Amino acid sequence: MGCETVRICCTINSRQKTIDIPANLTALQLLRDVLKLKGTKEGCGIGECGACTIQVDGKAVNACLMLAAQLDGRNIITIEGLGESGKLHPLQESFGKNHAVQCGFCTPGLVMSAKALLDENPSPNRAQISKAIAGNLCRCTGYQQIFSSIEDAIQGGSEEGHDG
Ligand code: FES
Ligand code: FES
Repeated sequence: MGCETVRICCTINSRQKTIDIPANLTALQLLRDVLKLKGTKEGCGIGECGACTIQVDGKAVNACLMLAAQLDGRNIITIEGLGESGKLHPLQESFGKNHAVQCGFCTPGLVMSAKALLDENPSPNRAQISKAIAGNLCRCTGYQQIFSSIEDAIQGGSEEGHDG
């Protein structure tokens, strides 16, 4: 029994891609092993740690639980797609400023979950933030700095958006 190949066309970090892949390849394997986008981490591989979180059509998903074939026609953003012209995304800056990064393994996933939340709801409360990052495990920081980072990024965003 041979491994079937499928062709997918999708947008990854604003670039259109057409790729032939084995039908059983996961989205995480596509990103890390085929496209060499190593910012998305592999932790548990079974949907429990959130290290592999990416955005697919705006929603935060675990790339380890998706087949790459399911990305056909979708818009994907990975941690490498954040920030512009060499400038970090406000969430990335805020994580650094608030010392929310220790070993850093959970960080890309947390930033992507937070980004998906803020894209949908620019001023979430603590409970909403907590719910959004509930699937992202961090063994190092104790979470307080992570909440502060996301809340600071919200603050920064509302200041930028202020009219007068
Ligand atoms: S590696 Fe995907 S949830 Fe842990
Ligand atoms: S900073 Fe190490 S797991 Fe979160």
